[in-house]
Amino acid sequence: MESKTSSKPIAVAIDGPVGAGKSSIAREAAKRLGFIYCDTGALYRAVGLFCVRNGVNTKNAADVASQLDKVHIEIRLVNGTQLVFLNGENVSEEIRLPEISMAASAVSAVPEVRAALLDLQRETAAKSSAIMDGRDIGTVVLPNADVKIFLTASPEIRAKRRFDELKAKGSDTTFEDVLRDLNERDYADTHRETAPLKQADDAVLADTSELDFEQSVELVCGIIKGKTAL
Ligand code: DC
Repeated sequence: MESKTSSKPIAVAIDGPVGAGKSSIAREAAKRLGFIYCDTGALYRAVGLFCVRNGVNTKNAADVASQLDKVHIEIRLVNGTQLVFLNGENVSEEIRLPEISMAASAVSAVPEVRAALLDLQRETAAKSSAIMDGRDIGTVVLPNADVKIFLTASPEIRAKRRFDELKAKGSDTTFEDVLRDLNERDYADTHRETAPLKQADDAVLADTSELDFEQSVELVCGIIKGKTAL
């Protein structure tokens, strides 16, 4: 895999709701195009994990903000895979636990948390051509991204995909729990005051409800190629 580091790095922003398949599709598209892949949700998850571990009430913005000087988050790329370190500890697996998802959504509504993670995200994208996924990449983090994609699918399809993923990992959660959690997080992510999830005016809408994984990756790669000189 060759990194496109020659001229100015290409920045691709992919935003969308929970379970739209952003991370798996973006990761595979990045691999095929020789870009790095950055999953920004992992950073909010690491802050959420810190709060859960330390008994910080994630619903209390002032409490969360007061802890941020104790939180050091790093992204390390190992063989093209993004690992996330919280105060020097690799937490890449632990942040995926379902109980951390709600905490991540809650801390992501705190403006100080968003501000604290902004430079890390921009620095990562500036290093080399990158596909970065999240909720506010095209609107706030990389407003001048070369390509912006808003990736979505119906709530039921997104919940089904997330449910299958969790089940494969041995979780005993039910489909109803996953759908309820997804609807709650969708609501919170789109209604928060700071950097709510919304489609950037210049983003291409990609609905994967009717597409399988391969078709979704092809769609995303096609949009990127169509908008750049790749
Ligand atoms: O993509 P994810 O499920 O791993 O993200 C976890 C939470 O982080 C999600 O509920 C919203 C928040 N988030 C955000 O506010 N901004 C981003 N760029 C990425 C994630």
